[in-house]
Amino acid sequence: MVILSTVLIPAGIAAGLYLIRKQREYSWGWVHKQHDLRGKIFIVTGANTGLGFETTRGLVKRGATVILACRNLRKANEAIEKIKAEFKSGEMIAMELDLANFDSIRKFVKEIKEKVPKFDCLINNAGLAVQDEQLTADGIELHTGTNHIGPFMLTNLLMDDIKRNNARVVIVSSKMHERATVDFETFGKYSPKPAGERSNHLYNNSKLMNFYFAKELYKRGIDVHVCCPGLCNTDFFRDYDPKFYHYVLFSPVILFMLRSAEQGSQNILFCALENVNTDDQNPDKSYIIYDCKQHKSKIDLSDDVSEKLWIESAKLCGIIKEIH
Ligand SMILES: NC(=O)c1ccc[n+]([C@@H]2O[C@H](COP(=O)([O-])OP(=O)(O)OC[C@H]3O[C@@H](n4cnc5c(N)ncnc54)[C@H](OP(=O)(O)O)[C@@H]3O)[C@@H](O)[C@H]2O)c1
Ligand SMILES: *[C@@H]1O[C@H](CO)[C@@H](O)[C@H](O)[C@H]1NC(C)=O
Repeated sequence: MVILSTVLIPAGIAAGLYLIRKQREYSWGWVHKQHDLRGKIFIVTGANTGLGFETTRGLVKRGATVILACRNLRKANEAIEKIKAEFKSGEMIAMELDLANFDSIRKFVKEIKEKVPKFDCLINNAGLAVQDEQLTADGIELHTGTNHIGPFMLTNLLMDDIKRNNARVVIVSSKMHERATVDFETFGKYSPKPAGERSNHLYNNSKLMNFYFAKELYKRGIDVHVCCPGLCNTDFFRDYDPKFYHYVLFSPVILFMLRSAEQGSQNILFCALENVNTDDQNPDKSYIIYDCKQHKSKIDLSDDVSEKLWIESAKLCGIIKEIH
């Protein structure tokens, strides 16, 4: 009896939990295909850590050349060293890009046009969430500025190259876009949390903007793919400083929902590498990739909003004369 209660029952529970976890991992999907990416060039923003790092790893493993577009070159070079120690294939180049700074975006675009005018895929991965009111170098609310305006400006300034090369654009959004709004009254400005709200509306809203942005790119004939990587164990929560009791409280979420960065990055790799027939399955252009499968977004993307967002975003970053 003692053995039953002290050994067998806990062991049974552990085995059961392990099996459920494995089943969950299986359902999250994986890009198993090897894909020979020798000679292909990918630009990955925020490639030094988290999902961007794992995406870079997955590409380099398959022989690709990856430009690591990072705001900190030291961190980018450390990431390169780590991946180099693991794989002999591929090539990596670090380039400086701060998406929360217009000058930096322009400098990066100039450098790309000079050094790598022919690339195959731009992966807009970098993004963040913070707790308090913060602004970009140009005075834009930080979530909108980094998660939407930065990638919007970058992609548009590279538009000629993207079109000429028929390059694919990947946008890392989030399912958080499902409960969000684009409020043009406060667009680009900080707005406090609605009363009683605990989650980060500014982050949610920026991820909805990603979606509208993708829709407009899609309408312009760009080969664009949007994904949600799922809840992943990365540096993303660095501003949230979790306490011990949070881990206890959220242990079921961690056990059944939290993916490794490598697992989550499969969704980004899927968008970058697989042939997703978006037209056939999504005539209304509101698909999202998650669990390495195509899903229809739960929200309806209005053309009025996506068109207005396109114009207002171009105005906000001062590229209205440069876009088509
Ligand atoms: N983790 C999740 O659960 C989750 C879920 C859904 C969607 N996502 C999305 O996945 C993407 C990647 O997030 P992650 O989880 O990998 O987070 P992460 O580990 O914090 O990595 C974010 C990356 O973005 C970079 N970055 C932040 N601000 C930047 C700026 N102004 N200019 C250039 N790069 C900047 C960071 O650079 P530094 O290292 O220098 O700060 C870092 O390389 C984000 O778009 C996020 O919204 C994540
Ligand atoms: C943000 O999105 C999540 C997931 O859809 C949702 O649970 C949360 O309530 C949203 N926050 C706000 C302020 O809308």
